[in-house]
Amino acid sequence: MPLVSMRQLLDEAAKGGYGVGAFNVNNMEQIQAIMEAARETKSPVIVQASRGARSYSQDRFLYHLMLAATELYPEIPTVLHLDHGNSVETCKSAIEMGFTSVMMDGSLMPDGKTPSTFEYNVKATREVVEIAHAKGVTVEGEIGCLGGIEDGHGAGLDGLSHLTDPDQAVEFVKFTGLDALAIAIGTSHGAYKFTKKPTGETLKMERLMEIHRRLPHVHLVMHGSSSVPKDLQDIINQYGGKLKPTWGVPVEEIQLGIRNGVRKINVDTDNRLAITGAIRKVFFEKPEEFDPRSYLKPAREAMKKVVALRMTQFGQAGHAGDYAPVSLEEMAHRYHEPVAV
Ligand code: G3H
Ligand code: 13P
Ligand code: ZN
Repeated sequence: MPLVSMRQLLDEAAKGGYGVGAFNVNNMEQIQAIMEAARETKSPVIVQASRGARSYSQDRFLYHLMLAATELYPEIPTVLHLDHGNSVETCKSAIEMGFTSVMMDGSLMPDGKTPSTFEYNVKATREVVEIAHAKGVTVEGEIGCLGGIEDGHGAGLDGLSHLTDPDQAVEFVKFTGLDALAIAIGTSHGAYKFTKKPTGETLKMERLMEIHRRLPHVHLVMHGSSSVPKDLQDIINQYGGKLKPTWGVPVEEIQLGIRNGVRKINVDTDNRLAITGAIRKVFFEKPEEFDPRSYLKPAREAMKKVVALRMTQFGQAGHAGDYAPVSLEEMAHRYHEPVAV
């Protein structure tokens, strides 16, 4: 089946009361890991590429790998999503290439660092919604800013400085007409989210629940949702890595989020950890090896295991065959008839 719109996947997830993981990719092995995990668990899937991923892969390489994924895994509803688009132009170029969903992250200025104004965010997101919906492409927006900068995203603040204001969230949805809303509740990108297991003081699940009460029909998105499991940290450190002790978002909190309107869960760091640990292990145990396949295969397998586990934990497992894909043309048509979507 062709790449499908994210709106359809999230609408189905809302009906079924489950969440869908959105996993970042940069190369063939990561795409293969996700598609194999999706097949094994019978999951619909969101594959996402950041601006960095697009430039690393020269864009078209990544796009054609995704077309190969749809050919080889025809039973899996698969979305290709732009993660953290920083401008209308970036979103436009993704839509032109064939992405079926884009994030216009207008919570930050185009430098990807400076928190923007509400007015800037509404204007940029609304513009992307108009361009995208005319083609049946889904739009995710963000209100409030995540923390963390070590991987090039976020405002360089801790996760608590720019939490989403529920009143603003309501206005933002009304003014933009977006499909999915990313909110800031204390998480950050990368491995160093919390210095100890998060509590209600550091991970604001109450805030999420309030936003869901105010916007019960809006698909919420949790960024910075890697759990940074201790076992993956330990493998890296056991084989010569130097990760400092750290905590991520516990899976139970994500599951609580899913019971309260979260439909898309962004995970990148956990997969990076799994890949790096597997490669370090081969390098350490077999220093004589130099065939890249000898370490890329275990790396791919390690990522597949993490992704399959998250698919099961988020509840998307078993849902790949629930629905027939709706074409982007049909989605575009539906956006013109507001009651139908
Ligand atoms: O949002 C952050 C994702 O982990 C992607 O990171 O910009 O380094 O590709 P990246
Ligand atoms: P993690 O760094 O927690 O994996 O978050 C990824 C993310 O939010 C991508 O947009
Ligand atoms: Zn993110």
